[in-house]
Amino acid sequence: MKGIVLAGGSGTRLGPLTRSMSKQIMPVFDKPMIYYPLSVLMLAGIREIAVITTPRDQAVFQGLLGDSSQFGISLTYVVQDHPRGISDAFNLCATFIGDAPVTLILGDNLYYGHGLSQILQTSIVPAISGATIFSYHVHDARRYGVVSVDADGRATEIEEKPEKPKSSLAVTGLYVYDNSVVDRVRALKPSARGELEITDLNRTYLDEGKLHVTPLGRGIAWLDTGTPEALLEASEFVRSLQ
Ligand code: TTP
Repeated sequence: MKGIVLAGGSGTRLGPLTRSMSKQIMPVFDKPMIYYPLSVLMLAGIREIAVITTPRDQAVFQGLLGDSSQFGISLTYVVQDHPRGISDAFNLCATFIGDAPVTLILGDNLYYGHGLSQILQTSIVPAISGATIFSYHVHDARRYGVVSVDADGRATEIEEKPEKPKSSLAVTGLYVYDNSVVDRVRALKPSARGELEITDLNRTYLDEGKLHVTPLGRGIAWLDTGTPEALLEASEFVRSLQ
């Protein structure tokens, strides 16, 4: 299993903080943001990890993380020259992925909780066929990718920021794919906003009945850090837990 942390993007909602600095380098209480998604991949036992950044920020991440061999992992740095969408990660990392399955985590997503390690080990470590996404109950699902599931927990529908969500389950920023992901992304067309959408990629698995959904329950906290309020809340959350 290979891992990818997607830490590029524009971070416009955090401006002017992000005008000259990457969002994923910002502090979440006492650590740079990228430590959190990176540690999720490490908890899952993934050792070979690619970090995707903008051209501007690559040197900053290399300065922060180096090759990380002291943590027993090996990091590869990959540049995304333009924010072409989350699914673009698999185009950029096709050589790095080779013939392995791959787990992608967004560089601004935090997962915290007791059962996390166990969930990751059972959902990520076994060789997978298809894709696994992680859902989280939210109050205002209209802001998210939303997944509906059947009684067996299998995805039946997935919608991007729907006006009238059919469920309250948001799709969080952690995705596990079999190796067919590389070919699937090559066949994707950019959306109206010009991005290779992760929802469109997940829909290719859903249409074949191969999209598995692992629910993250009450013991797990999932936090996004994309706005000033969310970033502050994440810092306060980590501080109170620590
Ligand atoms: P977003 O939060 O959707 O986008 P953003 O970080 O550019 O922020 P804003 O909407 O405020 O402009 O991205 C989610 C994560 O994915 C974040 O860690 C950045 C990363 N990302 C990329 O690295 N490349 C991309 O092309 C996109 C769309 C996102």
